[in-house]
Amino acid sequence: MSGAEASPAQVVMERCDMLAACTDGPEGITRPFASAAMRQAHELVSGWMREAGMSVRRDHVGNLRGLYEGAGAPTLVLGSHLDSVRNAGRYDGPLGVVVAIAAVERLHLARRRLPFGIELLAFADEEGLRFGTTYLGSRALAGTLEPHDLQRRDAEGITVADAVRSFGGDPARIEEDRWTGPTPLGYVEVHIEQGPVLEARGLPVGVVSAIAGQNRFSISFQGEPGHAGTVPMDGRRDALVVAAMFVVAVEQEARARQGLVATVGKLEVSPGAANVIPGRVDLSLDVRHPDDSARLEACRRMLADAHGLAENRGVLVEVRPLSENAAVPCAPRLVSLLTRAVEDCGQAAIQLPSGAGHDAVVMSSLSDIGMLFVRCKGGVSHHPAESAAVEDVAVAIDVLGRFLELIAEK
Ligand code: HGY
Ligand code: MN
Ligand code: MN
Repeated sequence: MSGAEASPAQVVMERCDMLAACTDGPEGITRPFASAAMRQAHELVSGWMREAGMSVRRDHVGNLRGLYEGAGAPTLVLGSHLDSVRNAGRYDGPLGVVVAIAAVERLHLARRRLPFGIELLAFADEEGLRFGTTYLGSRALAGTLEPHDLQRRDAEGITVADAVRSFGGDPARIEEDRWTGPTPLGYVEVHIEQGPVLEARGLPVGVVSAIAGQNRFSISFQGEPGHAGTVPMDGRRDALVVAAMFVVAVEQEARARQGLVATVGKLEVSPGAANVIPGRVDLSLDVRHPDDSARLEACRRMLADAHGLAENRGVLVEVRPLSENAAVPCAPRLVSLLTRAVEDCGQAAIQLPSGAGHDAVVMSSLSDIGMLFVRCKGGVSHHPAESAAVEDVAVAIDVLGRFLELIAEK
């Protein structure tokens, strides 16, 4: 449908469909960091960036970076991420990248230059699917990647450094990805809401007030494997029984505290045979809350549960913290400009918090951050049924375009 008759919003929807075809997974959409699918996505996005008048480069960690020159003042950074979870939806990440390209393309077609440059970041790894730790791309930009991050291994035993190398980057030069220019004018990300609020309020877009804090852990329970037919029940040190009680304890703790969410999303049993008592269980724990002290107290309680449950059954437990991000407020300056832009586009503007994490969390160490949420059907995300409406995407493009005008007037 692209071409003269397609509206910018229709082009955005079509491009999200094209990116959905860039996948490594046998089922659905799976586009991990530094994967063949990501390389395909970069082919498409770099072409779209160039059509929008941007120069394009890929940095060493694997972010795709488009630059739309301005009249020289500090740079405004736009963007979102191109990686996905497993069996993902098609809008979480790509929508923000493609809407930002559409807003820049509108300037380019009108031969407009703003009093600042725009750098558009298609981040390499927000979800942390492949290596378990989040924000590899935006942390390289913020200069907060640690040397040990490059030694993390994926399920095949490949390190981040090897993955960077095979993707065409030099891990020894990731330092060069760091933002070195003047403090950006701000970082603004458009993203589907991944929640039910906008749909419940009948609104196409909303302005994000803050992003919840988040902890991620890897936890291992080490019991004793044994013959399922011969070891008496009272003689077992069954790792899976302890893990199962822990999962229930996590859910009970989370249900007991307003605003707290906690999830065990991954759980691997070994040796994983029907006639062997589970000797070891490796699982993930994701804990979030808008208030940092509440989140940290919940983590403390859950980890105490893990140790207590394990001890009662003679099972060992090992806790490995993977990541921690404090709650991040969006900058009042950008919140009010985005609010005005929404109103100037004829929409009611509400502010709402984000329970999901975003690269904006990391970018807040570099500059002010702002986010614009787009309504998504049923709030469904991280699922093939994730969906957004072309009319709402059209509003988002207009709002981002209006925001660029407003911030240029400042
Ligand atoms: O998990 C999150 O909040 C985000 O989708 N990475
Ligand atoms: Mn996500
Ligand atoms: Mn996302």
